[in-house]
Amino acid sequence: MCGIVGFIGKRQAAPILLDGLSKLEYRGYDSAGLAVRDGEELAQVVKAKGRLSNLIEKTDGGKALKGTCGIGHTRWATHGEPSQTNAHPHVSGNCTRSGSGTVESEVVGVHNGIIENYTELKEKLLKHGYTFYSQTDTEVVIKLVDYYYKKYNLGPIDAIAKTMVRVRGSYALELMFRDYPGEIWVARKDSPMIIGIADGETYVASDVPAILKYTRNVYYIGNLEFARLVPGEAHFYDLNGDEIEKQTTEIKWDAEAAEKGGFEHFMMKEIHEQPKAVQDTLNSVIKDGAIDLSSVEITEDEIKNFEQIYIVACGSAWHVGMAAQYVLEDIVDIPVRVELASEFRYRKMPLNQKALVIVVSQSGETADTLAALRLAKEKGIITMAIVNVVGSSIAREADKVFYTLAGPEISVATTKAYSAQLAAMYCLAVQFAKVRGKITEEQYSYYISELLTLPEKMQKALEDKERIQWFAAKYANSHDVFFVGRGIDYAVGLEGSLKLKEISYIHSEAYAAGELKHGTISLIEQGTLVIGVLTQNELYEKTISNMLECKSRGAYLMGLTTYGKYEIEDQVNFTVYVPKMDEHFIGSLAVIPLQLLGYYVSVAKGLDVDKPRNLAKSVTVE
Ligand code: G6P
Repeated sequence: MCGIVGFIGKRQAAPILLDGLSKLEYRGYDSAGLAVRDGEELAQVVKAKGRLSNLIEKTDGGKALKGTCGIGHTRWATHGEPSQTNAHPHVSGNCTRSGSGTVESEVVGVHNGIIENYTELKEKLLKHGYTFYSQTDTEVVIKLVDYYYKKYNLGPIDAIAKTMVRVRGSYALELMFRDYPGEIWVARKDSPMIIGIADGETYVASDVPAILKYTRNVYYIGNLEFARLVPGEAHFYDLNGDEIEKQTTEIKWDAEAAEKGGFEHFMMKEIHEQPKAVQDTLNSVIKDGAIDLSSVEITEDEIKNFEQIYIVACGSAWHVGMAAQYVLEDIVDIPVRVELASEFRYRKMPLNQKALVIVVSQSGETADTLAALRLAKEKGIITMAIVNVVGSSIAREADKVFYTLAGPEISVATTKAYSAQLAAMYCLAVQFAKVRGKITEEQYSYYISELLTLPEKMQKALEDKERIQWFAAKYANSHDVFFVGRGIDYAVGLEGSLKLKEISYIHSEAYAAGELKHGTISLIEQGTLVIGVLTQNELYEKTISNMLECKSRGAYLMGLTTYGKYEIEDQVNFTVYVPKMDEHFIGSLAVIPLQLLGYYVSVAKGLDVDKPRNLAKSVTVE
């Protein structure tokens, strides 16, 4: 779950690599490193523990490293603690304990992913006289490449292909060989990597924002493929070492979109981009008052034949599934099961062959979600991905793809991607209901017109910021917070709770309101904050009475409901309102004050909002 960059061209590589890494820091930020070569000279390796700023300082903004060819890495530790020694690049030969300095090694490289059989490979290499300096799986791969390179003496193509056959796991690997100055070699399996080309220069990155400033023309390197990069060119190979023809794809994202745009944090910027993300996503399928799923490539016959829907995802994307299940079950009248991808992939459950498996993912690279998708495909079940990143692994492998148009999301805590995913789910629900004859033409038009009001109402929900900011400052020192609700309100609570805990480090839990009294209520003490989500009219009284049970035990109550429900003022201590709309879709409004609450608590505590500790945006390991 690290970020990699590479550059080879006419300009100095180090500043370009550092700039690229700064766009990828969301992928990992416990250490970073560069290896740069000046012509035939040996590679210079510099590594630093901690944030990228340490590496920038150490290399004087890159000026300390001369050369037009280099690779870089920002790390999120999986094997071995965060330290300078464990930071990448790693080298094949002997090195100093810290791994920095001039490198005489045959091979130097960086890696994102996990090598599952690294212990076994390490033993083999130890027997062949290799010395290991770090605890990383990466050092093992670099040394394995070196081993094959020297043993067969057939060049990088042969050494890389042999290594790829031998390692198990996932990797986006970048290598430089001492004997091949002016070249970068890359290989990929199950970890993201793109290659950009512009004006006689070549870029490598784990993700689009790192290279968007320089080029929009990219190659997607497939699974189990590798490539030789020279200035302005990329040559691709399969495992047999045979060359593969590829075309570049143009990225449509705007470079501006990948920057903060005036907000203090990416998270706040992205919270404000939600109306647009939802509007763009809705507009991609709603045309002339009807939903058109032709871009998703799902047919009416397929829609009619599904007997079951499984929604499989991780984190907030799973919360999208939790909210969507209520909408799908109610409007489409179809059984829905929502599964955590990490559970689904190992669960030996009977799957309905006439089901649709919907995987939901912002990055399109989450390892568990990808594995769940593959499992469903293996079982012959139709799969659909609701995914944000074009060309991501999940997007490429799913049978059907519904792209959310949220644009690049940088903050680790997702907001706009979540909202766009929910909007996509609503469109599927309404269209499925229509095709399966579960709603009338009038209901169909009503639902669509309601959906089209969402962006404007989300904008309105954003206007109540100051009160939430005040409230957040008051509760920033809480130890425990509980979110309660029923149905869709429960699903919204799950997301609200995650937002709060992941960026403010306050323990919080979301409960189906009726469950509180089966244990959790014993945790309520004088002043404990209980936040009730109350947007569903039919369930309002029930949830309020559960909240009052907490109040009588000392809890402080915050109620989140719709304008007009003013009787709530007599029951809770602090109220937040969102605009009214059809209750199926109102979760998209109710989540906004909760995102703002998490944000402001984090800011009030002086925490790193966009890069919370121990987390990474894209979780490409199990
Ligand atoms: C990480 C992120 C979450 C995200 C989850 C799933 O944990 O921090 O915000 O919901 O992964 O990611 P995906 O890219 O599959 O939506």
